[in-house]
Amino acid sequence: MYRFLVCALGLLGTVLAQSVDSYVGSEGPIAKAGVLANIGPNGSKASGAAAGVVVASPSKSDPDYWYTWTRDSSLVFKSLIDQYTTGIDSTSSLRSLIDSFVIAEANIQQVSNPSGTLTTGGLGEPKFNVDETAFTGAWGRPQRDGPALRATALITYGNWLLSNGNTTWVTSTLWPIIQNDLNYVVQYWNQTTFDLWEEVNSSSFFTTAVQHRALREGAAFATKIGQTSSVSSYTTQAANLLCFLQSYWNPTSGYITANTGGGRSGKDANTLLASIHTYDPSAGCDATTFQPCSDKALSNLKVYVDSFRSVYSINSGIASNAAVATGRYPEDSYQGGNPWYLTTFAVAEQLYDALNVWAAQGSLNVTSISLPFFQQFSSSVTAGTYASSSTTYTTLTSAIKSFADGFVAINAQYTPSNGGLAEQFSRSNGSPVSAVDLTWSYASALTAFEARNNTQFAGWGAVGLTVPTSCSSNSGGGGGSTVAVTFNVNAQTVWGENIYITGSVDALSNWSPDNALLLSSANYPTWSITVNLPASTAIQYKYIRKNNGAVTWESDPNNSITTPASGSVTENDTWR
Ligand SMILES: *[C@@H]1O[C@H](CO)[C@@H](O)[C@H](O)[C@H]1NC(C)=O
Ligand SMILES: *[C@@H]1O[C@H](CO)[C@@H](O)[C@H](O)[C@H]1NC(C)=O
Ligand SMILES: *[C@@H]1O[C@H](CO)[C@@H](O)[C@H](O)[C@H]1NC(C)=O
Ligand SMILES: *[C@@H]1O[C@H](CO)[C@@H](O)[C@H](O)[C@H]1NC(C)=O
Ligand SMILES: *[C@@H]1O[C@H](CO)[C@@H](O)[C@H](O)[C@H]1NC(C)=O
Ligand SMILES: *[C@@H]1O[C@H](CO)[C@@H](O)[C@H](O)[C@H]1NC(C)=O
Ligand SMILES: *[C@@H]1O[C@H](CO)[C@@H](O)[C@H](O)[C@H]1NC(C)=O
Ligand SMILES: *[C@@H]1O[C@H](CO)[C@@H](O)[C@H](O)[C@H]1NC(C)=O
Repeated sequence: MYRFLVCALGLLGTVLAQSVDSYVGSEGPIAKAGVLANIGPNGSKASGAAAGVVVASPSKSDPDYWYTWTRDSSLVFKSLIDQYTTGIDSTSSLRSLIDSFVIAEANIQQVSNPSGTLTTGGLGEPKFNVDETAFTGAWGRPQRDGPALRATALITYGNWLLSNGNTTWVTSTLWPIIQNDLNYVVQYWNQTTFDLWEEVNSSSFFTTAVQHRALREGAAFATKIGQTSSVSSYTTQAANLLCFLQSYWNPTSGYITANTGGGRSGKDANTLLASIHTYDPSAGCDATTFQPCSDKALSNLKVYVDSFRSVYSINSGIASNAAVATGRYPEDSYQGGNPWYLTTFAVAEQLYDALNVWAAQGSLNVTSISLPFFQQFSSSVTAGTYASSSTTYTTLTSAIKSFADGFVAINAQYTPSNGGLAEQFSRSNGSPVSAVDLTWSYASALTAFEARNNTQFAGWGAVGLTVPTSCSSNSGGGGGSTVAVTFNVNAQTVWGENIYITGSVDALSNWSPDNALLLSSANYPTWSITVNLPASTAIQYKYIRKNNGAVTWESDPNNSITTPASGSVTENDTWR
């Protein structure tokens, strides 16, 4: 009887896998075409959008999504850059499109907007008009995940270019854009933000998680190209972010509380999206970074999924351990508060990521935290480590594979016959609702299908991190604290000539050659000065030489430094 049951379940799993295979086969190309159609200037549904600009959806009313969001665009281009850099699509047309995205984002960074200018917080502006001008209407701003996600997408591209010998373009064109975003994260991560759904103004798990990732890979990337002046501030604030990240975990209820404000349960797709977008295949099941197979992320997945079992009538009658349609959060009422394709795909993607890591490490681990998740698939399982040769491992992983496929099958069931993916599908009858052809819906299909396929993407440095024993806030960014910065510059001078420094903050005389600060030549040819500068701040500066009133500026570009949150640093430069 038992053998028969196992066999029958195995057969059902196979039938399910085959139907999901067939959906992946038909929907994959539609999703790819759906993404490309929404990117200007040539996308068939993006006519009028500037080159490289991702339109959120062609829908221009109810809801009007004819804008470009930094978050959506960066996630969408991350998926395209992943396809390019792994060879899934190595066409030159995709390369040109990625290059046009780089240019579009460089332009958008310079656009002053209601959140500020490039140097006063403008990078936190959530969305722009599709011609790259500022959107000036009322909105939930700032949203501080965008710069981090854009940095991650561009760093992925940059790493590929570096490994293909293209250092010059990376250093001269790509790095300044990435650096703007990383410096923004350093300066502003510890201030409140609207969450990724643009509703709650507090701190948000998704935002903290992607900011942490960006600074980790940013530090490694900057080091690789010899741009070391800000690396210590990236590393310092990354440690602070990792510390803060832990605080969202709710140990008594076994889930990650998505936002510190908002007055809701806090059960939210925010947290699953964070896990899949900070997945690092080499980090195993690390729980401090909430890797997809970590006990905390799996426990969270169960609590999140279960929160939708009774709120959508299309989920009624489905077994309590089987896949259901999921949405942003159970209390949602936006556009009817329906299930979303991209959140339902995110559940599948997290599970596929987990299966891939277990297969790679040859075992899976059940802890007291993840026990309720695993007991859905085998009520007798207990905490322990199960090698891939054990029957427990086989039982659990084949059931979890079917569970994961079940979420794709739900989306398949509610995908209309033309394959179009809107934002939502009705909670009562599954028909498409809200914005049509949502670019992010299509991108979420691509990444879920790739995870199902165990496509290997590069990690970002989540391995072996240590959570600081106590969390520090970032007192910079207007907090008034300063750090001592010593500038050393190696400069040959003639008799009567002196070296000065000036730069972008009051303490460096705001680019005034007249009021520039004189360096000491006590260790000639090294000239030195120590200045107290605002903490955690991106600062630009140049050295100048003066001889009898004649001023000579160093050649371009400006030098830059992001000061640490505390302590002191020494900058070692050579006159250019
Ligand atoms: C758009 O199409 C034109 C004409 O074919 C082409 O020259 C251009 O490179 C395309 N732009 C992008 C961003 O692909
Ligand atoms: C480096 O990559 C950029 C962006 O695609 C490209 O414009 C440039 O021609 C490349 N340089 C070399 C030397 O391949
Ligand atoms: C700032 O960081 C501290 C330390 O982690 C944390 O307690 C506080 O909630 C953070 N505030 C915001 C708005 O991020
Ligand atoms: C968001 O919250 C912060 C801190 O409570 C507050 O200073 C800011 O004004 C709020 N922003 C909006 C738009 O409500
Ligand atoms: C399993 O989890 C325990 C408890 O968290 C941990 O000590 C152990 O290293 C984990 N083993 C593996 C293989 O992940
Ligand atoms: C899955 O991987 C195979 C082999 O690498 C590849 O041919 C196929 O296109 C991939 N499918 C998807 C959906 O990524
Ligand atoms: C250096 O900074 C100054 C002042 O902000 C600016 O005018 C100038 O364009 C910058 N130079 C370069 C090469 O970016
Ligand atoms: C500059 O040189 C000093 C002394 O040689 C060293 O301690 C410091 O780490 C250097 N600074 C940077 C940013 O490399």
